[in-house]
Amino acid sequence: MQQPQLIARDIYKSFRMGARRIEVLRGISMDIAHNETVFLSGASGAGKTTLLYTLAGLERPESGTVKFEGRQLYSGRSAAEARLRNKKMGFVFQGYFLLAELTALENVLLPAMIGHCTARAGAEESLAAVGLADRIHHLPAELSGPGVARRPATAYQRWNFAVSRSAPRIAV
Ligand SMILES: Nc1ncnc2c1ncn2[C@@H]1O[C@H](COP(=O)(O)OP(=O)(O)OP(=O)(O)O)[C@@H](O)[C@H]1O
Ligand SMILES: [Mg+2]
Repeated sequence: MQQPQLIARDIYKSFRMGARRIEVLRGISMDIAHNETVFLSGASGAGKTTLLYTLAGLERPESGTVKFEGRQLYSGRSAAEARLRNKKMGFVFQGYFLLAELTALENVLLPAMIGHCTARAGAEESLAAVGLADRIHHLPAELSGPGVARRPATAYQRWNFAVSRSAPRIAV
């Protein structure tokens, strides 16, 4: 049987807020199979984002292990792990994290450009698919409009484009 794509074991993570210490993840273990879709739900502040960051190699746990496609995260060089994220993971961040000085098109292309490949037509199509064909050269600050979630749409398309360019891997 195929190994799970992601294996997390006994993950602990806490944050210090002044004198207080908030224990956010207390012994999380989980397996995620290839092509499995997992939904996380919980109250605001429960630790969903912290867990996703930890599973995706963005937030080092205090203890515990995360293995992605047989490879232990947080054990090697950070540059190698950044390459792994660039090639194999897609991110839709809660806070969007669009770069303010880049246009919608440049923001969508960014992960591909970092990975030394560009496919402008694909990125344009991808933005057109969420109704932003006429906004591709707009900056994030110019993308919001009444009732239109253009910034999230752009952030989503960055992920969609990144994932569609490589074999399906993991998206958080
Ligand atoms: N970098 C940080 N420094 C200090 N505390 C943090 C940090 N990141 C998260 N926290 C705290 O950890 C707890 C969990 O935060 P997290 O963002 O993971 O929650 P969440 O479940 O994603 O919430 P939401 O539904 O509001 O997005 C919160 O109490 C938060 O204030
Ligand atoms: Mg969150």
